[in-house]
Amino acid sequence: MNIPKKAKAVILAAGKGTRMKSDKPKVLHEIFNKPLLGYVVDAAQNSNLIDFSYIIVGHCAEEVQDFCQKYYPQTTTCKLQSPQLGTGHAVSFVIEDLKGYKGEVVVLCGDTPLIKAKTLENFITTHRKNNADLTVMSAIFENPTNYGRIIRDNNGIKAIVEEKDATFEQKAVKEINAGIYCINWEKIAPAFKELKNDNAQGEYYITDIVKWAVEKGLKTNSFILENNYEIFGINSKAHLAQATKILNDETIQKHLENGVQIVDPQSTWISPETQISTDTIILPNVYITGKNKIGKNCKIGPFAHIRGDVEIGDYVKIGNFVELKKSSIKSHTNVCHLSYVGDSEIGSGCNIGAGTITANYNPITKVKSKTIIKNGANTGSNSVIVAPVVMEENANLAAGSVLTKNLDKNALGLTRSALRIIQNWVKNK
Ligand code: UD1
Ligand code: MG
Repeated sequence: MNIPKKAKAVILAAGKGTRMKSDKPKVLHEIFNKPLLGYVVDAAQNSNLIDFSYIIVGHCAEEVQDFCQKYYPQTTTCKLQSPQLGTGHAVSFVIEDLKGYKGEVVVLCGDTPLIKAKTLENFITTHRKNNADLTVMSAIFENPTNYGRIIRDNNGIKAIVEEKDATFEQKAVKEINAGIYCINWEKIAPAFKELKNDNAQGEYYITDIVKWAVEKGLKTNSFILENNYEIFGINSKAHLAQATKILNDETIQKHLENGVQIVDPQSTWISPETQISTDTIILPNVYITGKNKIGKNCKIGPFAHIRGDVEIGDYVKIGNFVELKKSSIKSHTNVCHLSYVGDSEIGSGCNIGAGTITANYNPITKVKSKTIIKNGANTGSNSVIVAPVVMEENANLAAGSVLTKNLDKNALGLTRSALRIIQNWVKNK
């Protein structure tokens, strides 16, 4: 039998998310500028054991589909579930596509952004080692209210019972269903056609596949999660803030352990995809989103905003009220005060004067253009560089100038009008 080495993911993302009180679908709400669904797809993709994800969409399906098309065109496909009749009903929408598929399917939720690739890897590996047909991810919660409970006997797990359907005794169980499953598709797929909705919520529950599998004599297992927060589900804006904080605390802790100095972890926000090298100091009130790479011995902040796709060399200073986006800045360059640098390449040993702005966006054509500032070039205070433009090596731009043409090596650009001095002006007035 030819069993694929990698599993397929099915990510449930059709729900409305009423408590978000938003016009936007829940799974497109963002943490560090990345939608919740993006975190889940990335975790699946980065796990090394999943190569493709089916996204079940329903509420605001088009928007969610557009997001997947734009960022994951090769590795995801969306399936429309309309109306939404439950988690088991949702999974049934991949039956057609997976006809004859002999590998595993990992079911995930689009609103649990803190799940880690490594955990999914361990989860699938455990499923394989146990020769299980169905593995349920579970967790031990002191307060299990609202979660499905894992019901066991001596032979392992035999059912999952939803809070609303649970007996008093079952409600006391602290092992909860995390909502993540690893399924041997060939054996379990028929279950999705046989699910019934005779329960308190009148829904087709995915959780009922456990009982189905046990009745068929298949092997069920559970995988108990180590870090409970990984299955933290987002249902409200308050949850969104909490999840952001959890992710930030974890990221900052990792940087501190790696030798980055962070003066005030409470006021520092760093996206998980930002790399920072040793002995760099991050001063208070710094906000960093997206994917970035920051070298060693840099000084960032206070009050700096790094917006993603930024690469910074070693010994670079990024000072207060500086915003950086989609740019590279080589070693020993300073951007110390009040500047905007976007879509730019800045060389090493440059001094970007206070209030320098790279004007990268033409609001009429909507085109963004590039600024290139080569090694040793400097810009004076309050200068504007209207991209596309190149400042060659050691070129200088005088304070208050607006640069609209390329500057040759060692040249000075100066657009300032001549200074007039009127003596005794005050007296004569
Ligand atoms: C589900 C589990 C519960 C578990 C909990 C963990 C069931 C029946 N129960 O409950 O045992 O403890 O997750 O968080 O599965 N969705 C769809 N289509 C639908 C219904 C839901 O795509 O028709 C999506 C939702 O958008 C959500 C996910 O599936 O992302 C889970 O659905 P939700 O209604 O939140 O299930 P829970 O009640 O939390
Ligand atoms: Mg839920």
